[in-house]
Amino acid sequence: MRMSASLPLIVLSMVSASNALSLHRRDEPAVLAAPLQRRHVDGILGKRDTSPVDVSIFNHQNTSYWLNLTLGSPAQNFTLALDTGSSDLWVIEGSKKAANVYVSDDSSSFKSLDLPYNATYADGTTALGVYATDILSLGGATVKDFEFIVVNQTSSDVGIAGVGYNISTYASSGLNKTYNNLPYALAASGVTKSAAYSLWMDDAAATSGTIMFGGVNKAKYIGELQTLPVVPVYNRYYSLALALTEVTVQTGDSKSTTTNLPLAVSLDTGSTSTLLPQDLFNDILGALNGTYDEKSGFAYVSCDLIETDYNVTFSFSGAKIDVGLSQLVFFGAVAGWPKNSCVIDLTPSEPGVNILGDSFLRSAYVVYDLENNEISLANTNFNPGKDDILEIGTGADGVPGATLVPSAVSTATGNGVQTATTGVVGATGVTVTAGTTATGSASTGGSAKSTGTSSGMAALPTGNAKLLSGLAGAGLLLMI
Ligand SMILES: *[C@@H]1O[C@H](CO)[C@@H](O)[C@H](O)[C@H]1NC(C)=O
Ligand SMILES: *[C@@H]1O[C@H](CO)[C@@H](O)[C@H](O)[C@H]1NC(C)=O
Ligand SMILES: *[C@@H]1O[C@H](CO)[C@@H](O)[C@H](O)[C@H]1NC(C)=O
Ligand SMILES: *[C@@H]1O[C@H](CO)[C@@H](O)[C@H](O)[C@H]1NC(C)=O
Ligand SMILES: *[C@@H]1O[C@H](CO)[C@@H](O)[C@H](O)[C@H]1NC(C)=O
Ligand SMILES: *[C@@H]1O[C@H](CO)[C@@H](O)[C@H](O)[C@H]1NC(C)=O
Ligand SMILES: *[C@@H]1O[C@H](CO)[C@@H](O)[C@H](O)[C@H]1NC(C)=O
Ligand SMILES: *[C@@H]1O[C@H](CO)[C@@H](O)[C@H](O)[C@H]1NC(C)=O
Ligand SMILES: *[C@@H]1O[C@H](CO)[C@@H](O)[C@H](O)[C@H]1NC(C)=O
Repeated sequence: MRMSASLPLIVLSMVSASNALSLHRRDEPAVLAAPLQRRHVDGILGKRDTSPVDVSIFNHQNTSYWLNLTLGSPAQNFTLALDTGSSDLWVIEGSKKAANVYVSDDSSSFKSLDLPYNATYADGTTALGVYATDILSLGGATVKDFEFIVVNQTSSDVGIAGVGYNISTYASSGLNKTYNNLPYALAASGVTKSAAYSLWMDDAAATSGTIMFGGVNKAKYIGELQTLPVVPVYNRYYSLALALTEVTVQTGDSKSTTTNLPLAVSLDTGSTSTLLPQDLFNDILGALNGTYDEKSGFAYVSCDLIETDYNVTFSFSGAKIDVGLSQLVFFGAVAGWPKNSCVIDLTPSEPGVNILGDSFLRSAYVVYDLENNEISLANTNFNPGKDDILEIGTGADGVPGATLVPSAVSTATGNGVQTATTGVVGATGVTVTAGTTATGSASTGGSAKSTGTSSGMAALPTGNAKLLSGLAGAGLLLMI
């Protein structure tokens, strides 16, 4: 992608010795770190020359974060898209071992559970399969009888590792059968103390990041972790969503603030872009003198902004994440755009589907504490020093070094009115949440359109929309 020389140099702020030592430091913390790999597709991004090209080779939308793990005995290797916006882990079945294909006959520890899996997308894409268990191995840890799905019918060529709430699995929401999905399975098998993990994605030029189950790496963020309550949907925790309370765009001496909030936003690694309601999107774009190209579904600003230190600052009850424009604006253009135009990785959302995707998340170190329904945030340290790993303990205050934000907003339905109930579940397996028309509702269900492109490359969930909300982003992958 871009040259690293164009990246801002974030001064390393060393954690002072006094506060570095926290309750949970142990000689051998129960943590599991796994590298994430970002898939790159060579394209127009990274070229300084911004001559117009067609949107169909606009590869920025084609990157995602990938996790390697194995299933079976003997172990079969998989590279799966990491998705905080969904909760099931699935692999594609085959009759002969090939890259990313699971051959159940080749695994002596495979057991079918005879529970069907059926995810349907608005564009017609489906993922059909059967729940099963097998041995999972991830970053050196092993989980016996790990529950996942063997998909035998899908247009996708990749599987997905969902790490959201277990209540949002298809089994739970569609079949009323909760199971320990990946974060809970790691905790239940003693690999971690708690169903919690931290994500560090590094900057936009990097090819890798890290997910750390059960731990926090203090070297990878700046300042203190600030803890916020997850926003519930009808009193239940389905989605890793926070209440966004303010957005500020700081450009030179001008500062523009949006206050038409709070807005419930899902933190979703399965979405490359950040999807915000039209009015908020317009505010941010306006402050940057940007233009939305409805035809392509992409917005552009002057490429000069990449070299600035301007930020779009997202505030969550006072906890602020600065997203530098170098992390949000990319070399890349669509035919017909003015010279020196660069794409800004923000997308107007469909009502109720507001997502802080990878273009936001790279600037934040995020601890997802599923057990306490809390998310802790700090600004990413893009230039981390030596690892300083602390274990996440059990119970409240399990996240080391994190401070609860006082009087944090804990509910948000945004700037619209919720006009329908979220279709939560019957044992029949049908969950339709498309009726949630609230702009900025806490639900992430509905007819998500994840990229705003007219090419229809996003796969749009209809059935089980909420539980598969992450696939609104991962849906990009489904169409590859
Ligand atoms: C994504 O990458 C694949 C090749 O891996 C390519 O065929 C496809 O056109 C790309 N999609 C977009 C939207 O760039
Ligand atoms: C993940 O697996 C792929 C395919 O085997 C390999 O190319 C890649 O280097 C692995 N990534 C990491 C981070 O181990
Ligand atoms: C599976 O991954 C491991 C670790 O990356 C590697 O050593 C091994 O060769 C891979 N096996 C296959 C069949 O690709
Ligand atoms: C999957 O669900 C869709 C609608 O939700 C339904 O039309 C279809 O028949 C189901 N497929 C199977 C194989 O159960
Ligand atoms: C997929 O698996 C289901 C359940 O085992 C089976 O009914 C169906 O025929 C399979 N479909 C394909 C295409 O193999
Ligand atoms: C779901 O299962 C629980 C017990 O496991 C039962 O109490 C509850 O009534 C079931 N809910 C539905 C909607 O079937
Ligand atoms: C699922 O999540 C709930 C609450 O987050 C937790 O209490 C439970 O242990 C998890 N696992 C199962 C199998 O329900
Ligand atoms: C936007 O345009 C106005 C008027 O031309 C100018 O004053 C301002 O500096 C521009 N802002 C940015 C971020 O380029
Ligand atoms: C943008 O944020 C960075 C990092 O927090 C900060 O160093 C910089 O001063 C900010 N830029 C402006 C214009 O406020």
